[in-house]
Amino acid sequence: MIYIKTEEEIEKMRAAAELTARTLGEVARWVKPGVTTHRLDSIAREFILDNGGKPACLGYEGFPGTLCIEVNETVVHGFPSSYTLREGDIVGTDLVVELDGFNGDSCWTFAVGEVDEAKRRLLDTTLESLYVGIEQAQAGNRIGHIAHAVQEYCEHRGYSVVREMCGHGIGRDMHEDPEVPNYGRKGTGALLKPGMCICIEPMINAGSKNIVIERNGWECRTRDRKPSAHFEHTILITEDQPEILTTFKYVREALGLPASELR
Ligand code: MF3
Ligand code: CO
Repeated sequence: MIYIKTEEEIEKMRAAAELTARTLGEVARWVKPGVTTHRLDSIAREFILDNGGKPACLGYEGFPGTLCIEVNETVVHGFPSSYTLREGDIVGTDLVVELDGFNGDSCWTFAVGEVDEAKRRLLDTTLESLYVGIEQAQAGNRIGHIAHAVQEYCEHRGYSVVREMCGHGIGRDMHEDPEVPNYGRKGTGALLKPGMCICIEPMINAGSKNIVIERNGWECRTRDRKPSAHFEHTILITEDQPEILTTFKYVREALGLPASELR
């Protein structure tokens, strides 16, 4: 069932999402060659706890980290580890923060030092596709409008869209209805209404769309081992423009990027 949030609940969603965004900003300051993904995970966990939140992924169905770590061909749900980031890697850090009973969920894929042109383009296109999807997150549209827009944007640029993993509704639970796929047809799926909170999270591959889930049941990588990128925002459907609850402004500040979100 899809929950329509009350004004009080929306305020709590805003606060949880703000802490999620600030945590990603903190992580952003530490992403560089020579840093282990365990280290990034500890930084995120401590920051969340220091600010009164709860790292919602940690222990969720046995997941072992605060962050999902997505290095190069890892699509989603990678474990923090002793892996040391290297110049030219890309690394996604996906996290969910619970604050006062509500959840925020966001992901940014970072370039570690200088990355090659192919990875740069994959990152840019995936981030752009997130905003193309958000643009469709209007009351009166359906989930399929978002899904179709993301798919078309990425496929027209030669990339492929992961099928097995989707965005989702969010609130008291990190995963609520509806599912928000990154592929599909415009008129299909749930009708969007003011007060709905959803996560839009394109997971886009440089090569084929096929993925493999490792034997631990979590870590998901591209079958062809070509790189994959992932960006995610938690958003609120309103009477007019969608409200991005998890801003990237802290990440952008840390990376020295221009302040405004792309669109
Ligand atoms: N954004 C990820 C998702 O929606 C967060 C997963 S947390 C985990 O799937 F605990 F499930 F890993
Ligand atoms: Co999510």
